[in-house]
Formats: sequence, structure tokens, C-alpha cells
Amino acid sequence: MNQISFTLKNKDTTCDVFAGTNLYNEAIVYLKKMNKAKYVLITDSKVEKLHGETFLAKCIEAGLDIFMTSFQEGEKNKTRTIKEKLEDALFEQKCGRDAVVIALGGGVVGDMAGFVASTYMRGIPVVQIPTTTISIADSSYGGKTGLDVPAGKNLIGAFHQPIAVFMDTELLKTLDKRNYDSGLIEIIKHGIIKNKKFYEFLKENLETILSREEEKYDKIMAKVVMDNITIKREVVVEDQKESNLRKILNYGHTIGHAVEKLSNFDLLHGEAIAIGICAEAFLAYKNGICSEECFLEQKNIVESLGQETKIPEGISTNDIIELMKLDKKAREGMPEFSLVSEIGKYFETDGVIAKRFSLKVLAEVIDEYKKLE
Ligand SMILES: NC(=O)c1ccc[n+]([C@@H]2O[C@H](COP(=O)([O-])OP(=O)(O)OC[C@H]3O[C@@H](n4cnc5c(N)ncnc54)[C@H](O)[C@@H]3O)[C@@H](O)[C@H]2O)c1
Ligand SMILES: [Zn+2]
Repeated sequence: MNQISFTLKNKDTTCDVFAGTNLYNEAIVYLKKMNKAKYVLITDSKVEKLHGETFLAKCIEAGLDIFMTSFQEGEKNKTRTIKEKLEDALFEQKCGRDAVVIALGGGVVGDMAGFVASTYMRGIPVVQIPTTTISIADSSYGGKTGLDVPAGKNLIGAFHQPIAVFMDTELLKTLDKRNYDSGLIEIIKHGIIKNKKFYEFLKENLETILSREEEKYDKIMAKVVMDNITIKREVVVEDQKESNLRKILNYGHTIGHAVEKLSNFDLLHGEAIAIGICAEAFLAYKNGICSEECFLEQKNIVESLGQETKIPEGISTNDIIELMKLDKKAREGMPEFSLVSEIGKYFETDGVIAKRFSLKVLAEVIDEYKKLE
């Protein structure tokens, strides 16, 4: 097991991160030490059966006053209604301010449980136990929590840092291949934007990482998860509220989010981001920000991951542009991009990371990208 612990700038909160396999016992020891009156295990219908029941039983055996509450799996349930139901469950169980929420699941559970914790009695701690690649790579750490509303995804939420995160790669072994493989793009993204050595390590070990079986898998994944969180930590510690540096984490997400939405969410988040990274690398290349080789390198790794690089046929350039104009990050109708100048190096001018292009340039580049073989 690996463990790191760090403090966030401008805040007294620390976040302890553990990575490895079979971490239930570590998690229970940690929870016991917190010495809370109530422990609330929040999960979804699928993870409840696969992992929740076992974890709950172990916690009860260890003497924790714990109960489990779950909601139907899936993004469509990351809603206000579900938040209310979960909060009511906490009231029914007489949870006070000395309760702690444990989020066991993917990004949907993590975002929802984290948001519940952030507002319950003005905020109680949350411990994250991510069970998907997306949640291990990205969502369980960083403090963003929230839910979806008809107006858009993640539009209601709060920043609420977890007190601890247990990244147990054993849990990933029950995840379906589509979710597992596509989620890895967020890890690769961290290498592309900030750490060439990490990127090269991922590339060299991609087969093992994809296998989830090879003997060396557990060891390699523990390193991957730790290096990944270290990169994200460097960014988040500096800039918790996304004023500048944190924007580099949005690489691939301006086009990616638009494509995800225009596919009516037929594409998983990671699948859309894989396409977004390739298209934004092409945008950087066409505007002299990175070399053609750098663009092709990124396209190749996305292909090696078994992901599609092309924008799906039915999605028009105009629709992508219109959606990007509405993106949270857009200013005065100009979408914002965080790009890379070479593998391991994000692009910035005069300390500013966000880059804007005229809508005309964007339309031309996306059209040209669509025509590529
Ligand atoms: N807060 C952040 O910083 C942040 C960052 C990235 C993504 N997100 C959010 O995360 C969500 C996507 O996360 P996700 O991809 O984990 O989706 P998810 O939570 O819906 O999980 C995907 C599916 O896998 C199932 N599942 C989860 N763990 C499993 C396991 N170990 N074995 C078998 N099945 C399992 C789930 O029940 C679900 O059906 C989105 O809502 C996105 O907005 C948040
Ligand atoms: Zn993402």
C-alpha cells in the first residue's frame, strides 16, 4: 500500500490518499480513528451488490455505527430528487454534525455523496472510495461535487474536499471493459498536460494496465494511481477554485463535453474526452502551438487505448460550436481551451492558460479534423 497525505493551500483541511489493493481494512481503521457517532455509506444499486454489502458487513463487524443508503445507478440519477432522498435517509437515521459520509462508487456516487456531505448541517466530512477508473483518476479527489439539472450537467454543486480517499484498484476488476478502458484517458491526460515521464510509463505499460490480470498489474496500477493523484494534487493545491492553473485539467474537455452532450450521452465521458483530446491537439497543431508529431502521438495513444478518435458522423461542426459557446468556461460567446505545446507541457502565454480562438477558426479546424483519415 502507498499513502500520501497533503494539506491544501489556504485551508486547514488535509486529505489522506491511500492507493493499493484490498484497502478495506485500512479504510475501517481510518474510519474508526475518526471516532464519529454515525457512518453513512452511500452507494448505487450496482456497487451496493458488488462491493457495498461486503464493506458494510466488515464495518459492522468492526463495531462502527453505520448504515448504507443507495440510489439507482446511472448519470440520470445525479439529480436534486435523489439528493433530497439521501438527505432524508440521514435525518431518519438521526445523523448529526458528528456523522461522516462514505462515498463508495463511481463519479456519480462520489459527486452526489460529496454534495450531500457538503450541505448536510452546513457540511460534514466525506471519505471517498472510488470504484471506477474515472473516479480513481479524477473525480474522487479535487473537491468538486454536484448534480445535474435540466439546464445542464454539474450546474449545482459545491467545492468540498474529501478528508480521505482510498484508491483500491482491486475494486476496478469488476468494472465492465467499456467503462474501465475509456476512463483511463483521464489518467493519460494528466501525463500529456504535465508529466512526460509519467506519460512514457503509461505508454510502456499500457497492455498490462488494460489487462487487469497480469501478475504485475497491481503493482503497476498502484504506481499509476499514486503518480496520477500527485499530478492532480500539484494542480489543485495551487488552485482549488479554478482561477488559472486548474484549467489545464480541462484539456480535451471543451470539444469533448460538446461531443458528449451531442451524442445524447451515448458516448461515455472518457470516450468523448478521448475524441476531445485528439481534436484539441489538432487545434493546437493547426495554430502553431504544438508540432504535428505531438498531435499524432496523442492520436496514437488514444487508438492504443482502443478508443475512437473521430467525431461521430451525425454531429455537425455548427452544433459543436454553438454548444461550446454555452460552456461554463466560455466568455462573451468565445469558448476557452487549455492546450499542450508538447507531451508533458501545458501551453501558457504570460502565465495565462486559457486560449481563445475566433469561431471561424474553430469551425475551419473542426471541419478539417473531421476530414482526416
Ligand atoms: N467531481 C469531479 O471532479 C468529476 C470529474 C470527472 C467526472 N465527474 C463525474 O463523474 C461521473 C462519471 O463517473 P463514472 O464514469 O465513474 O460513472 P458512474 O459512477 O455512473 O459509473 C459507471 C457505471 O459503473 C458502475 N460501477 C461503478 N463501479 C463499479 C465496479 N467497481 N464494478 C462494476 N460496476 C461498477 C456504476 O454503477 C455505473 O453503472 C459523471 O457524473 C461526471 O460528471 C466528476
Ligand atoms: Zn473529465
